[in-house]
Amino acid sequence: MNNIFTSSIGKKLIMSVTGACLVLFLLFHMSMNIVAIIKPEWYDSICAFLGVNWYAIIGTLVLAGGFSLHVLFALILTLSNRKARGNNNYATTVTPKQVSWASQNMFVLGLIVALGLLLHFSQFWYKMQFAELMGNHEVLLGETAVSPNSGSAFIAYYFSNILFVIAYLIWLAALWFHISHGFWSALQTIGWNNEIWLSRLKFASKIFATLVCLGFAAVVIAFYVKSLCIC
Ligand code: HEM
Repeated sequence: MNNIFTSSIGKKLIMSVTGACLVLFLLFHMSMNIVAIIKPEWYDSICAFLGVNWYAIIGTLVLAGGFSLHVLFALILTLSNRKARGNNNYATTVTPKQVSWASQNMFVLGLIVALGLLLHFSQFWYKMQFAELMGNHEVLLGETAVSPNSGSAFIAYYFSNILFVIAYLIWLAALWFHISHGFWSALQTIGWNNEIWLSRLKFASKIFATLVCLGFAAVVIAFYVKSLCIC
């Protein structure tokens, strides 16, 4: 029986809807992070508000569920596409003009995004929300003990290290390709397939991805520059 979980369009729809939720989260997360540049104390209050509260925990669980579905269906779609192509993976050397580099490399880009997320979680979420959940009122950043709600102290600590700055900028570049292609193809899947509108949406998705990634990158760079001025 063909249903939403087994049909090809159903799987793509799940990818699109979960992708849209993740993109909304990114917009919120990026806007929230900009506050750290403007007023670090306000940022810490937002982190405290999003710490260990029932609404923040429900939000985290919904986000984790959406993310897991997005990754699971990405794997299923990639494997079934490979299977449909059989051994002919390399049978063509000519790439049709319409197939962008990002669309061909969605899976690899997604993998870099996921690896970046692992690094990000180990540095932020694990030492903040998770530490608080475990009942820790202090965590170590190098040799300094800070509250798990001091988001701005975490940002200042990690982004004073050039290696983390470079790693985050590479991560954000992969994220740019991933969302600029994904956002547009999601709208196409949902049914927006008018040619004029598709090219407009393609442009809009690039603007959106640029806005989100530049917003995140601004925080990384601003705190790195700040760390140079303090030294
Ligand atoms: C580069 C700048 C970024 C900074 C400074 C930053 C900062 C933070 C901080 C402070 C937290 C912990 C919030 C808390 O537990 O109260 C957090 C959590 C998180 N970040 Fe980021 N983040 C950045 C980029 C990103 C990007 C690019 C993504 C996604 C691709 C992302 C995804 C997440 C997720 C999923 C969480 C967990 C949210 C939750 O617990 O509900 N972050 N981030």
